Amino acid sequence: MMISLNKETLKIVSEQDVVLFRQRLKEYASKIGMSLLNQTKLITASSELVRNILVYARQGEVIIEVVTDRLQTGVRVTFKDQGPGIADIPKAMQDGFSTNKSLGLGLPGAKRLVNYFDIQSTPGNGTTVTIIRWKR
Ligand SMILES: Nc1ncnc2c1ncn2[C@@H]1O[C@H](COP(=O)(O)OP(=O)(O)OP(=O)(O)O)[C@@H](O)[C@H]1O
Ligand SMILES: [Mg+2]
Repeated sequence: MMISLNKETLKIVSEQDVVLFRQRLKEYASKIGMSLLNQTKLITASSELVRNILVYARQGEVIIEVVTDRLQTGVRVTFKDQGPGIADIPKAMQDGFSTNKSLGLGLPGAKRLVNYFDIQSTPGNGTTVTIIRWKR
């Protein structure tokens, strides 16, 4: 069973919000004693996911939580938007797939950097991505 110890929701509308989000995330991760390597992985993955919110949905929100399952403690981040959604999730998860003439590495790269990765999306109804990075 997963317990959430501390929780904060941030609206994401601008680059400024992204800067604040990254700072808050770093504070949460360092407060629980996450290793610097894992902090970097968490922040790199989160930067890609929050960028997708701004690029594809224009706006959304992120929820930062400290979570524990009694064996491990870490940070869970949930990225929610009400943008266009993703029609084919397996395709979007492939390296190099982009509808934006970009690298197409954001989602698959983020998945490789975290311990848990879940993506839910309905075309026309938005996208929710949830990640967890354990501290060790
Ligand atoms: N929040 C989102 N809402 C709608 N579509 C999304 C969202 N996030 C990703 N996608 C879709 O999934 C595709 C793959 O996303 P991913 O982040 O892996 O690559 P990218 O954004 O195209 O390129 P990169 O992140 O490497 O610059 C995107 O091109 C887009 O079609
Ligand atoms: Mg991307």
